[in-house]
Amino acid sequence: METVVSGIRSTGNLHLGNYYGALQNFIKMQHEYNCFFFIADLHSLTTHPTPADLHGNVKQVLIEYLAAGIDPEKATIYVQSDVPEVTELYLYLNMNAYLGELERATSFKDKVRANPENVNAGLLTYPVLMAADIIIHKAVKVPVGKDQEQHLEMARTFGNRFNRLYNHDYFPEPYAFSFGESLVKIPGLDGKGKMGKSEGEGNAIFLSDTPEAIRKKVMRAVTDSGPTVENQPKPQEIQNLFDLMNVVSTPDTVAHFDEAYNKMAIRYGDLKKQLAEDMIQATAPIRDRINAIANDAGYLRKVAEMGADKARESASRTIREVREIIGFRKF
Ligand code: TYM
Repeated sequence: METVVSGIRSTGNLHLGNYYGALQNFIKMQHEYNCFFFIADLHSLTTHPTPADLHGNVKQVLIEYLAAGIDPEKATIYVQSDVPEVTELYLYLNMNAYLGELERATSFKDKVRANPENVNAGLLTYPVLMAADIIIHKAVKVPVGKDQEQHLEMARTFGNRFNRLYNHDYFPEPYAFSFGESLVKIPGLDGKGKMGKSEGEGNAIFLSDTPEAIRKKVMRAVTDSGPTVENQPKPQEIQNLFDLMNVVSTPDTVAHFDEAYNKMAIRYGDLKKQLAEDMIQATAPIRDRINAIANDAGYLRKVAEMGADKARESASRTIREVREIIGFRKF
């Protein structure tokens, strides 16, 4: 059975981008593959969370993984920092990761631009840690959104480099995966780029948002003053709303508003109302389960412990072999 690995950073509540880009595929894949889904708490250290925030965010992602439908009996769910073998592999891979290629990573350049006073080494080597996460279990498929494509390319580079250096066909090549034709990019509500936690207040719809919060955010989404000729191409902010509708609404609903737009009869207020209701409906079962398990500390602990044991078993097998390949041998 092929192995699958993916993770989500513990930097806050999960949003629709995380869900449709990654989580939804995790849930489908758990039935067909040997799956490892983790909470990337080490990666979240690049932004220096307080201990209380770190702990709270890890717990929240665990709750939302379970609420969204990951079954801990089928997939291995674990917290990244519970598996120290990952950081050991990260160190070995770092010896073969070069400054130039790390500086060229798009995500690194974006982070430097957004936050020039916190360009730390952890941020620079973020893709190396991500490669370690993936190849420690020898995964071949990695369900992620479009924004992670370059990181997967880097993971292949680092794994292949290790193989070549030690003349050993050891790590298989991992590829970004989505069930659709292409990797997913869910737009935000700000009329610009993707939905994200750090893209500004109101840009993201969280799985834990109340129906009122969802309505409020959607009604405030950026729009223009409407089409001025028939069949006019949609400007980015309007296309974004249609793209969001495509993931939460029925094809008939999308076709209805599309036709209205093309005939210049669209009322953005109606479109937003419909979009908000469909988002509320799409997230309702998850929201209900979040509330149901949020305070079940015993269950959460059990899931995390069980996952850590299973993940360590797999990771330590790899590390034992890697140490042998590198030449760390017993006297
Ligand atoms: P993170 O925490 O930024 O995002 C988690 C997952 O959600 C996807 N995603 C999106 N997909 C579509 N549209 C969006 N607007 C959107 N926003 C987020 C991301 O593509 C990702 O799949 N580096 C990773 C975490 C990580 C990881 C790994 C993933 C660490 N190690 C190993 C896979 C394998 C990250 O920052 O994800």
